[in-house]
Amino acid sequence: MTGASSPSSQQDTQPIKFAYWVPNVSGGLVISKIEQRTSWDIDYNRKLAQIAEASGFEYALTQIRFTAGYGAEYQHESVSFSHALLAATEKLNVIAAILPGPWHPAVIAKQVASISQFTGGRLAVNIVSGWFRGEFQAIGEPWLDHDERYRRSEEFIRVLRGVWSEDNFTFAGDFYRFRNYTLKPKPSSPPEVFQGGSSRAARDMASRVSDWYFTNGNTVEGVKKQVDDIRAKAAQSGHHVKIGVNAFAIVRATKEEANEVLDEILSGADPEAVRAFQHEVQNAGNASPEREGNWAKSSFEDLVQYNDGFRTNLIGAPDEVAQRIVELKSVGVDLVLLGFLHFQEEVEFFGKHVIPLVRALEAKEAARTAA
Ligand SMILES: Cc1cc2nc3c(=O)[nH]c(=O)nc-3n(C[C@H](O)[C@H](O)[C@H](O)COP(=O)(O)O)c2cc1C
Repeated sequence: MTGASSPSSQQDTQPIKFAYWVPNVSGGLVISKIEQRTSWDIDYNRKLAQIAEASGFEYALTQIRFTAGYGAEYQHESVSFSHALLAATEKLNVIAAILPGPWHPAVIAKQVASISQFTGGRLAVNIVSGWFRGEFQAIGEPWLDHDERYRRSEEFIRVLRGVWSEDNFTFAGDFYRFRNYTLKPKPSSPPEVFQGGSSRAARDMASRVSDWYFTNGNTVEGVKKQVDDIRAKAAQSGHHVKIGVNAFAIVRATKEEANEVLDEILSGADPEAVRAFQHEVQNAGNASPEREGNWAKSSFEDLVQYNDGFRTNLIGAPDEVAQRIVELKSVGVDLVLLGFLHFQEEVEFFGKHVIPLVRALEAKEAARTAA
């Protein structure tokens, strides 16, 4: 298991990282009839990945869905899509979303090892534990209780790390068993392991085994609570986990213009589709015993963006958005995961007009700390 702890003071000196959601499913990132100049096809996405790496984005996160529920009628598979994006880029890291259950860890360990070899170790994984019961039913996968899903995911991650790093790997778990297994070739470098989720079980798993914890959009105070909770628990097990937060960015010349776009998104929301989504995810959000899972407290407006991305409030003029990103960093956030209305245009705009302001604020803060 990787778990080298690094003091948070060291972390704060690292530039905050930027990732974008890969639109590998149809319908864009908001459940609204507003025009979205975005496409789920591979040509659009190859170009987007090239724009992103030239614009200062270090990571791209793919999504995994086996079936549509509401919107997202078409969904490209995440590992093959990630490979295609890696082949089209030179330095971007691509994170493939993986669902334990449909995937056996031996299969994904081997796929990742090969793709890692082909692409200079630029493939990472996001282990998602599942929230959509209808999807599992549709493909004949047993649907486990909330905390059992995380017990399985934790074994899944421990197995991946073992198979990727050890020869004669042996593991006797409740979900997976390996005997003297040696994977050849191994990945060219240890792949980073991300995970998504906000519940107690998700945070506890992050504090033990994941390199990165991804959470839904939230206020700076809400994010701080999660960061403090995870980091305190992680310290007990000598583990260091990095934090990524989702946000839907609407950056325009002025705050008024950005707010107008948000109003337009919300007024174009498809109520039937949002309610159907709300029904599924609140079921999922309330499924964890303590009822703190993703979406447990989301309003109708929050859910117009699938992962509560408006709540992070990266909506405004470039300087306000840069300031808010630095505030997120000050409470321990290491990476901001961004969704956009018009991906190619807005990723480029963000790289040109927001990232340099963030870097300037970080330099100012570093100088202040040094003084
Ligand atoms: C950034 C992020 C990305 C996610 N990507 C996916 C995905 O591609 N497919 C999926 O089924 N679930 C995805 N999830 C859902 C989570 O894995 C998890 O099932 C959900 O957040 C509910 O977890 P909780 O009850 O522990 O909060 C994602 C979550 C986050 C925060």
